[in-house]
Amino acid sequence: MSNFFYKDGVLFCEDVPVSDIALKYGTPSYVYSKKTLEDNFDAYSNSFIENEGMVCFSVKSLSNISILRLLSEKGSGFDIVSGGELERVIVAGADPKKIIFTGIAKTNAEIIQGIKKDILSFNIESESEMLRIERIAKKEKTIVDVTIRFNPEIDSGGHEYIKTGRKKDKFGILLDGVLKLSKYISSSDSLNLIGLSCHIGSQIFDLNDFKESAKYIKKLAREINNTGIELKFLDIGGGLGISYTESDFPFPGDLVKDIKKELNDRNEKIILEPGRSISGNAGIMLTSVEYIKGKYLIVDAGMNDLIRPALYGAKHDVINVKKGKSKANNWTIVGPICESSDVLAKDYLLEASEGDVLAVKTAGAYGHVMSSNYNSRRKPPEILVDGNKFKVIRKRESYDDLIKNEVNIESEF
Ligand SMILES: Cc1ncc(COP(=O)(O)O)c(C=O)c1O
Repeated sequence: MSNFFYKDGVLFCEDVPVSDIALKYGTPSYVYSKKTLEDNFDAYSNSFIENEGMVCFSVKSLSNISILRLLSEKGSGFDIVSGGELERVIVAGADPKKIIFTGIAKTNAEIIQGIKKDILSFNIESESEMLRIERIAKKEKTIVDVTIRFNPEIDSGGHEYIKTGRKKDKFGILLDGVLKLSKYISSSDSLNLIGLSCHIGSQIFDLNDFKESAKYIKKLAREINNTGIELKFLDIGGGLGISYTESDFPFPGDLVKDIKKELNDRNEKIILEPGRSISGNAGIMLTSVEYIKGKYLIVDAGMNDLIRPALYGAKHDVINVKKGKSKANNWTIVGPICESSDVLAKDYLLEASEGDVLAVKTAGAYGHVMSSNYNSRRKPPEILVDGNKFKVIRKRESYDDLIKNEVNIESEF
């Protein structure tokens, strides 16, 4: 059940009317439901029996440290892609032995940072990266646990920008290169191969795509076993699709069931890296109508606050936080940014008048994390709702924040 719902025409998040939040913290602002985050995590986690699997939340989808802390307290591991994300999860109290480090361009500094924190594994994405991690491990006089991220050469559908598992994509090792790398690692004194991983993309609705990945991972694991190497983890990545405007969407429990079925003769622990399917519907973005100009509904949130519509042509439902007060019309909802692509929705039927507060639904994933200061706009606050309480978990940036890292040269060089 959604924890964002109308009661007597007023939009609530859990037990809080969201208009109270807008009144206290202003707009634009992001609002998250703790219960939805927890329920979404449980939908994965409860589908595994003890030690059978591990959920490594994809930090890139929503990285506020309070959110990471509440997931960590529920037992979540984390899939990270940068030194910054590593720092965040550690600050949030994550167990280092539940952190996996993905990403095709890990720097020396990031590799050293991961080694020093004693994380579970680095997902190796190229031969060069493997050799670099080995060199650093030797220098640090340690043995580093690694996982090979392979590219299953699957076209998972979805937007071009969120496909990652096709032969031409920049991610992972192509299928025919995996054995070569695993042999190299097994003869290295500084590397230890503990698993295989893959991630084929995002917003995937067809569970068959995941089953295909599981088939490949099983085949590769067998081939690696035949060379005398035992593995501990098989990681199928993230990418489960969620409902933005669609009515049919896959359930995490069904995904886990299918993967378990595919891998039922394997002993390795299954890892999943869900992002959007945990954080997406747990968040909304609040925005106020500033002006009405013909067909344009001009709101105070721009593409700097939520870039998904401009970047991917993504569609989000937009609703009025108070139903039945304003007249419905077909609007083009636009933001304040000086770009014609700053359009939140086109030809969108919505009740709205100047001054109304709107909620952009399903904005929890790839929302605030992708916000920017373009047009020198301050990043919006994040507010977490827990029952009838709400708390700011990230303040709105101040004008001082905007320029604090800049140097105001007062004289010539
Ligand atoms: C390696 C990896 N794992 C997991 C995810 C999470 O994907 P999603 O948010 O679609 O579940 C991503 C997203 O791009 C990713 O690149």
